[in-house]
Amino acid sequence: MEWMIDTANLNAIKEAVDMLPLSGITTNPSILKAELPFDYETQLKAIRALTPGLTMHVQLGSEDCEGMLEEAAYLQNLLGQDIYVKVPTTEAGVKAMRRLKDRGVNVTATAIYYPLQAMLAVSAGADYLAPYCNRMEQNEIDFGKAIEQIRDMIDLGGYEAKILGASFKNAGQVVRAIDSGAHAVTVQPAMLRSVLKSALVTDAVAAFTKDYALVTGK
Ligand code: G3P
Repeated sequence: MEWMIDTANLNAIKEAVDMLPLSGITTNPSILKAELPFDYETQLKAIRALTPGLTMHVQLGSEDCEGMLEEAAYLQNLLGQDIYVKVPTTEAGVKAMRRLKDRGVNVTATAIYYPLQAMLAVSAGADYLAPYCNRMEQNEIDFGKAIEQIRDMIDLGGYEAKILGASFKNAGQVVRAIDSGAHAVTVQPAMLRSVLKSALVTDAVAAFTKDYALVTGK
């Protein structure tokens, strides 16, 4: 299973890379907006520099296929050929995914709310599929069931695409996505840390620390 972080905050990235067993980092324009002011290229390059060895998933802002292809080439030139270009799973996006895969570009299909979007993206050659779990839940779409259906389609068809659960607002959603068959999840680092430092955990550890001092005499 793969863990990724969904942030463009440089301090959060530094801490998370040091602490967590990560395989990648994901951003989108709204996540980047939270870090303004910055120079776009400088910020993306700084993220890349902080995440050696991790996959970097950068979202396109263009709305039409030709614009997406040009922007993908620009991002590869800026950040390296090995980045994953996040393509919204729209009509133009599915068209662009096919062309990007013909050129050997890594593709992450994003803004997925419906299993059918994911199935089209898999057929277009996408490497990762990002269902928006919290947003689906807010719109009364059962994201767990959707992930199960997408996973069945991938496994039955023998595809190599991976489900990358995204848009999480609580730890329960993350666990459900994994339990439903997601190969990977992208999560805000603060959410993972909030579980690791919850009162139940820290109280238990404090009691062990106290007893350790007693039994060792230290
Ligand atoms: O990676 C993008 C996805 O996580 C969107 O999240 O919080 O805007 O629903 P959110």
